[in-house]
Amino acid sequence: MVRWVLVALRRRYVYRNPSYLFYTGRLKRDSASRSSTSSRGFPAVYRLRSAAAHTWAEDVTGFPPPKMGTGECDAEAIVLKTDALASRYGPLFSLYMGPHYTLVVSEVALAREVLLHRGKDFAGRPKMVTTDMLTRGGKDIAFADYNTLWRNHRRLVQSSFALFGEGSSKLQTIVLDAADNLCSDLQACRGQSVDMGPVLMRAVTNVVCRLVFGSTYDPHDPELQQVIDYNDGIVQTIARGSLVDIFPWLQIFPNNDLARLRQCVQIRDKLLTTKLEDHKLTRTPGEPRDLLDALLSGSDGEGGVTDDHILMTVAEAFGAGVETTSTTLLWTIAFLLHYPEVQERLHTELDECVGRSRHLSLSDRTSLPFLESVLCEVMRIRPASPILIPHVAMQDTRLGGHEVLKGTRVLVNIWAIHHDSKHWEKPDQFRPDRFLDDMGKKITPPSYLPFGAGPRVCVGESLARIELFLFLSCLLQRFRFSVPYGASLPDLRGRSGVVLQPQRYTVAVNLRH
Ligand code: HEM
Repeated sequence: MVRWVLVALRRRYVYRNPSYLFYTGRLKRDSASRSSTSSRGFPAVYRLRSAAAHTWAEDVTGFPPPKMGTGECDAEAIVLKTDALASRYGPLFSLYMGPHYTLVVSEVALAREVLLHRGKDFAGRPKMVTTDMLTRGGKDIAFADYNTLWRNHRRLVQSSFALFGEGSSKLQTIVLDAADNLCSDLQACRGQSVDMGPVLMRAVTNVVCRLVFGSTYDPHDPELQQVIDYNDGIVQTIARGSLVDIFPWLQIFPNNDLARLRQCVQIRDKLLTTKLEDHKLTRTPGEPRDLLDALLSGSDGEGGVTDDHILMTVAEAFGAGVETTSTTLLWTIAFLLHYPEVQERLHTELDECVGRSRHLSLSDRTSLPFLESVLCEVMRIRPASPILIPHVAMQDTRLGGHEVLKGTRVLVNIWAIHHDSKHWEKPDQFRPDRFLDDMGKKITPPSYLPFGAGPRVCVGESLARIELFLFLSCLLQRFRFSVPYGASLPDLRGRSGVVLQPQRYTVAVNLRH
């Protein structure tokens, strides 16, 4: 019995000594190499929590633990903690998340090894109770394991996105229409202070609805509101981070979060199934009207992609595509309030290259390098996904010269990589110019990975970049953003959720002309 308790405790907590493990090059799963003691003479213990896709470690010995997974925690504190762990244990250290042996990577060369050079070796995903519930057991892209079916599925999604993505006027029209509606909504506020969070969320959700199943909603349409509500429910429950993801047997106990998640998923599936059935009846093969049509014609019984896969793909376009994009826009405006000189420069660039009355288009991207560099700097300094979705070793492999066993989980700490002073001058300062060369042309430094890289790179990257560019340029062409009278500047520390979000803030929106 005592032995069982000790084994359970050892599996529950982390025994520190990554330096021992890594210096000796032993990353083996044998307990001897993992139960070594620290230089302080006792095993440091880490209590661990999971926030579904984004997972954090809590050091209960050395640092005051932040409240994690409650949505109230100060994200900077967590990030600092992760950084503190990295500075204490190096850019590659190990810990246990419940029973799961996990490596944390905080340096770009190691991240590139995980994502690119050994991308296939590390292309697996962990199985979790909440994500299984969300994706019908991994019938989506983000949480499915790497195999032939997943490759067919991902290829189908990419080619369907390409039909409406870069180079296609359809996506541009969809985003510009949504940006126009957004601007009209803001204009109606007549300079009063506005909470941009819900407004941007509605605009981006509308883009995805139209792109995916062709529905154009009035901003206050009840069906659009239903989509926003169930997505919000899903995001909130996932963000709270359920302990069942670490200890699945806890499912036997009543769990309000899981019940709420199940309910939101049911509402989501009912709505999306109706759209799917409707599309099957009304589509004309070879003439896709939207993403759902493209997925249906691409799948037509090939590659093992079923209706369930299509439904989960569509659901994921909302899950992965709305919160990330709208949050990045929200961060951008927050930084522009802090740096009015940057907003001024953006206005000047827009006035000189586009003017105040002509409609913007994607072809303006090359002539607005400063605007592009501002978006890059926002995604560097506040990456929406500061720790990528966890990766899993699909086979025995190596990392940084050490053995890694099949099944090992790997967290890539993008925050640390984007704030590494070896690669970024004054990384804590907001400096869009770091993405421009001496001639003012856009450059992409190798330590910049806001969408990940390799086989698991974000599927929606080009769609997201198009949305960010068109939304921001349309907003700045018409408006000047400032801090409302009597209000304070937005808090730039952020709070954790499914993505890293700014604290709520309000903004005064004034017409420029
Ligand atoms: C600013 C916006 C966005 C950011 C910063 C972002 C970032 C990311 C990141 C960091 C990953 C994880 C990569 C990894 O685990 O190695 C990811 C994965 C993913 N993203 Fe995005 N994303 C954005 C928008 C979108 C959009 C608009 C969509 C689709 C409509 C999308 C769909 C996905 C999917 C399906 C995956 C999973 C890929 C896989 O596991 O193979 N994302 N994204």
